[in-house]
Amino acid sequence: MKIEPRMRGFICLTAHPDGAAQSVKNQIEYVKSKGAIANGPQKVLVIGASTGFGLASRITAAFGNNAATIGVFFEKAPTEGKTASPGWYNSAAFEKEAHAAGLYAKSINGDAFSKEIKQQTIDLIKADLGQVDLIVYSLASPVRQHPETGVLHRSVLKPIGDAYHNKTVDFHTGKVSEVSIQPAGEGDIENTVAVMGGEDWAMWMEALNSAGVLAEGVTTVAYSYIGPSLTEPVYRKGTIGRAKDHLEATAFEIADSLKEINGRAYVSVNKALVTQASSAIPVIPLYISLLYKIMKEKGIHEGTIEQIDRLYRERLYTGNAVPVDDRGRIRIDDWEMRDDVQAEVATLWEKATTDNLSELGDLEGYRKDFYNLFGFDIAGVDYNADANEMVAIESI
Ligand code: NAD
Ligand code: NA
Repeated sequence: MKIEPRMRGFICLTAHPDGAAQSVKNQIEYVKSKGAIANGPQKVLVIGASTGFGLASRITAAFGNNAATIGVFFEKAPTEGKTASPGWYNSAAFEKEAHAAGLYAKSINGDAFSKEIKQQTIDLIKADLGQVDLIVYSLASPVRQHPETGVLHRSVLKPIGDAYHNKTVDFHTGKVSEVSIQPAGEGDIENTVAVMGGEDWAMWMEALNSAGVLAEGVTTVAYSYIGPSLTEPVYRKGTIGRAKDHLEATAFEIADSLKEINGRAYVSVNKALVTQASSAIPVIPLYISLLYKIMKEKGIHEGTIEQIDRLYRERLYTGNAVPVDDRGRIRIDDWEMRDDVQAEVATLWEKATTDNLSELGDLEGYRKDFYNLFGFDIAGVDYNADANEMVAIESI
């Protein structure tokens, strides 16, 4: 069938398998163009492997170092006449390319927060790989059912203490308006920390470690975000920021627990990018559209694949000590956070209105990235042709 984007609010209900496949190929080509990663990871588990930073992490390991990869994710399979979720098509395309290149790649589709999926992953590692030497934790989810209590926690993006008022943009229409976000209520902080904090990462590492499937010298990394003072009340000093504080603190606990096997645990602070999650946060799309404009002008714009490629080559696998900030965090948001970049974004922020945003900001780039997430608007894909939505993932 012919597949077109169908929008509902900030989400797209359809995904294009050929577009997703082309996008995965483009990422693979990027990593290959950079050559082999010296001393890179060999047996890799990526939790949250189907989209965004996690997909880029899987691709970089596989095509930068011929790594065997196991990817865990939670995606919708296609049904006759109804497309799969984007991460399903991405993973199908990734496995196809990896297998064609002679690389081991298997995937597990299910709730990574559950004990069952952890056990299934451990069984697969034992059966096929023996051990893993890199675990990337890249989950982004609005909900988590706690494996011990059964409680369903929901994360929220709210300021703490006072309401937050600022500008925002509807990136579909380009309309700039004022938005007010009411402060977190009872339980919001705890729930957000339960979903997006470090508890589940620690549970994964504990389960993997006690099963004996972590290699000597193992590395684990999870992803965080800081961002500018502009978004601080709603991001880093809001409910999600509390979760990121918790995630960052968890890295130290995990590092301690891995001492016997000389393991290391890091949080990497990554750049703001268009993802399904970030487009739903008020204020962030306006920030990203201004940020993209400035970073593209300066020739320092990156997407997820460029970010993760740089994380592996220039941070994690240099053969030297990993460079970290004063809180032990890896910073690949270094270009986003440069003083000149932030000063120019702040100036544009003051000026931005509905009338001038298409010139001041990179709304077009924002929209393109958004459609690209779903496999649309990708060069070289014939969107008028019939597409087959019933794509299988080879290992599933
Ligand atoms: P994403 O939505 O693109 O990816 C989320 C992944 O998690 C997908 O593979 C999805 O299938 C998987 N997932 C979600 N719930 C799951 C579940 N219950 N079980 C198994 N898999 C599940 O998100 P992203 O933007 O790549 O975010 C990944 C991490 O990077 C997050 O910690 C996020 O905070 C962080 N980060 C994002 C940005 C940004 O701007 N997007 C910037 C810095 C850091
Ligand atoms: Na991800």
